Amino acid sequence: MSSLQNTLMTKYVHMSDTHIDAVYIIEEKSYGYPWSKKIFNDCLSNNYICRVLILDDKLIGYLVASIVNDECHIMNLCIDSSFRSCGYGRYLLGELHSEIKILNCKVVFLECRPSNTSALKLYNSEGYNEIGQRKNYYPAPGGYEDALMLAKYV
Ligand SMILES: CC(C)(COP(=O)(O)OP(=O)(O)OC[C@H]1O[C@@H](n2cnc3c(N)ncnc32)[C@H](O)[C@@H]1OP(=O)(O)O)[C@@H](O)C(=O)NCCC(=O)NCCS
Repeated sequence: MSSLQNTLMTKYVHMSDTHIDAVYIIEEKSYGYPWSKKIFNDCLSNNYICRVLILDDKLIGYLVASIVNDECHIMNLCIDSSFRSCGYGRYLLGELHSEIKILNCKVVFLECRPSNTSALKLYNSEGYNEIGQRKNYYPAPGGYEDALMLAKYV
């Protein structure tokens, strides 16, 4: 099945607290240092942009972003490992770009581990550019790892 057909059957919807258990299962499997359920609940309570991708009633991905004035900051974007490399990550990001354009956002920022080559390929191909680094941003075995800061004008 093509990526386009896949995404046509996919729903991009607001995350609610009923989604948190399914989100957390993906989160825990995807990151060495996952967010807790409390962090997701706090993001929902603080009106961050929290969205999920639903395919045939199954939650297969999610994102969390904040908006301050005309700037958006993507804080988490993740696809269930069983559904990766099928176009869903690009679709999720594209839906966010469309949504924040309507909200008059001008620029999107995010951080990424330099070792996360698949995410960096996605972001670069979507027009993100490296604008700097944040020292010791991510926890890593035995210490901390720097983050690349990326930005894109929308
Ligand atoms: C990063 C992530 C969201 C990408 O989602 P995805 O659904 O697998 O990505 P897509 O299928 O939409 O692919 C988009 C692009 O990403 C890159 N990509 C995806 N999977 C890749 C892989 N295994 N190896 C190299 N590049 C890859 C490719 O450039 C791809 O474009 P192409 O298919 O036109 O070549 C997903 O890998 C993920 O959830 N990773 C764990 C969480 C994470 O690291 N999030 C990002 C934090 S900054």
